[in-house]
Amino acid sequence: MASVDVAELRQKYTAAGQGQVFTFYDSLSSAEQADLVKQLALFDPTRINELAKEALHPTPAADSGPAVLEPLPESATASILDSDASSIAGWYKAGLELIAKNKVGVVLMAGGQGTRLGSSAPKGCYDIGLPSSKSLFQIQAERILKIQQLAGANAVVPWYIMTSGPTRGPTEAFFVENNYFGLEKANILFFEQGVLPCISNEGKILLEGKGKVAVAPDGNGGIYQAMIGSGVLADLKKRGIEHVHAYCVDNCLVRVADPVFLGFAASKDVDIATKVVRKRNATESVGLILQKNGRPDVVEYSEIDAATAEAQDPNHPGVLKFRAANIVNHYYSLRFLETIPQWARDLPHHVARKKIPYADLESGETVKPSTPNGIKLEQFVFDVFPRLALDKFACLEVRREDEFSPLKNGRGTTDDNPDTSKRDILLQGRRWLEAAGANVTVSDDARSDVSAADTGIEVPPLVSYGGEGLEGFKGKSIVAPALLEG
Ligand code: UTP
Repeated sequence: MASVDVAELRQKYTAAGQGQVFTFYDSLSSAEQADLVKQLALFDPTRINELAKEALHPTPAADSGPAVLEPLPESATASILDSDASSIAGWYKAGLELIAKNKVGVVLMAGGQGTRLGSSAPKGCYDIGLPSSKSLFQIQAERILKIQQLAGANAVVPWYIMTSGPTRGPTEAFFVENNYFGLEKANILFFEQGVLPCISNEGKILLEGKGKVAVAPDGNGGIYQAMIGSGVLADLKKRGIEHVHAYCVDNCLVRVADPVFLGFAASKDVDIATKVVRKRNATESVGLILQKNGRPDVVEYSEIDAATAEAQDPNHPGVLKFRAANIVNHYYSLRFLETIPQWARDLPHHVARKKIPYADLESGETVKPSTPNGIKLEQFVFDVFPRLALDKFACLEVRREDEFSPLKNGRGTTDDNPDTSKRDILLQGRRWLEAAGANVTVSDDARSDVSAADTGIEVPPLVSYGGEGLEGFKGKSIVAPALLEG
């Protein structure tokens, strides 16, 4: 890069009060200088200052009194728990037809750093300990393969996998090593979300080393800008896709391209639909999908008072009024995704306080702090909801035990860890087989110290996507724990 550019860049950062990023510049080798300049040229320091200021000190909303919270209107919601079988079968059939006509694409959010899990590889590569040792990516790939088979010989569901700086290389390598898990390479597109500099508690851009800015992915809401910038939207259009399912990599029970959900959303002709599970109790710390001041929205558990959290639904005695727990599992119409350029930059950035390794500006040594020393700026994928009118938004309540078991924490923790993921897949397999009329018993070997997972059966996605196709096991005896062969 020409030196004049560097001088201009230095001037730009200095004028924005961020000149510290050049502290060690003169002592770097020319290759290191070039790398730093390349990285700094990606950002506009004035905009970073604005984002950090707004995230740390949000402009108070115009005083219109306390927010009015209500559940979504009944017309916008349905529940698998109490819908009649014919409605569910109707949505399934409609969704499968859309898949058969190649109108459906899937977007996976896999750009997170998975810090709580503590694995050095991307979360999707994680082996949760199933008898088959399949990774989360493999389970999801096989669900896509199976749904394509169920829809018909020519059905293709393209898979768009959002990675980030830290996860892209290892994610792509994992797919290559595993031969794309049997999917066509041409129907898997990796794309990369943006990163933003990490900021100190004093609002200064942090260096990770003498010649490197500390950066972090810009949150799962970065999906929108990334879909435009990386050509995902263009590819969806080229393929004639009209309906998109977006989900998080860490949910081992996710029904990828779920025909029921797609059929439900398409029948409502909405722009966004979301799956929710029933909140377990008033104190469970989950985000809630509801209407806020007449718009669809997500409200965090910390934002509602106890009376609101505990309120009962007058139409369902014993059931919470606000019970729609967000699991970040969405449907989008293509016509809505086409509007991304109009609003993506305006989605707010939220503050995540983190321990961020940084280069000490005196010594140049990298310091690993033991308490949070700065912030990462993140957009949230659901912050777009309030842009929609209520009649363009719908919500489908699904069974938690069938559709939601996230992998957040490492082994040895109490919940949302590899053992709970494994258990939930195995117990679901057992339920499916028993519903099909199989007789499942527990192995004598497993009886002495039996865990719930030991009583379950792994049913590979290529055998059954959602419990269908198991009639052949009627009357058969199966000893748990086991991996079912096709
Ligand atoms: P989480 O917020 O749970 O983050 O992501 P994480 O990275 O998996 O784990 P921690 O918080 O570091 O322990 C929920 C989903 O959003 C995706 C993740 O990959 C996961 O599927 N995500 C998160 C992104 O795609 N990009 C991001 O910048 C953040």
